[in-house]
Amino acid sequence: MRRPIIAGNWKMNNTIAETRKLINELKPLVKDAKCDVVICTPFTSLAAAIEETKGTNIKVGAQNVHWAEKGAFTGEISAKMLLELGVEYVIIGHSERRQYFGETDQSVNARVKAALAASLKVILCIGETLDEREKGLIEEVLVRQTTEALKGIDKAQLEDIIIAYEPVWAIGTGKTATSKDANDSIKIVRDTVAKLYDEEAAQKIRIQYGGSMNPSNASELMAMPEIDGGLIGGASLKAEDFAKVVNY
Ligand code: PGA
Repeated sequence: MRRPIIAGNWKMNNTIAETRKLINELKPLVKDAKCDVVICTPFTSLAAAIEETKGTNIKVGAQNVHWAEKGAFTGEISAKMLLELGVEYVIIGHSERRQYFGETDQSVNARVKAALAASLKVILCIGETLDEREKGLIEEVLVRQTTEALKGIDKAQLEDIIIAYEPVWAIGTGKTATSKDANDSIKIVRDTVAKLYDEEAAQKIRIQYGGSMNPSNASELMAMPEIDGGLIGGASLKAEDFAKVVNY
């Protein structure tokens, strides 16, 4: 049985003061969660988030990491820097990074390797755009993104990777993939992992759904056999909504 994992992707939201407030509202609401609970905050809020979640079941993640150990990369943050703070997870390859910041399958792969080398757990995002979906390219895109992102990663390292399938057209739009469509796409990703590694690896890896997941659709999505959790954007910014998803 794969343990479900619900992660909040706060994106560029919440100051340090807002971070402390939201976490303190969230703590009592998710303390009995039967899944792993993660919040991915902006870099500036990580230290406060780690302090506020100490001794709780909430884990903290970042939203990006650079591939180099250190050097002349203005504005970037290394895996070692995150680890030193006490960060456990990092989102890599989010579609907003791919769309607005020139992230490619190759840079995603390099970032995944750097994060794993520093013992961070990776939430690797993949997903097709609306145009790709309409052209019937879902499978091609998901196979390519999965294969490229996992290049050079051994089977043992997969234990530290969670894949988040996020159809780009469903992110922040209020449009959710039907639970069947989400399940079918995640099956494609799982079958790809089976081809790249083996069936055991495919059965073990956790694959989340993301894209307008909220309290009203979480239980239906989570009831699907292939869906092992959610990456939650908008609904993670309100303690009650995020807690309802966590306690689906
Ligand atoms: P959303 O974002 O829940 O606001 O659609 C999900 C994500 O981008 O991770």
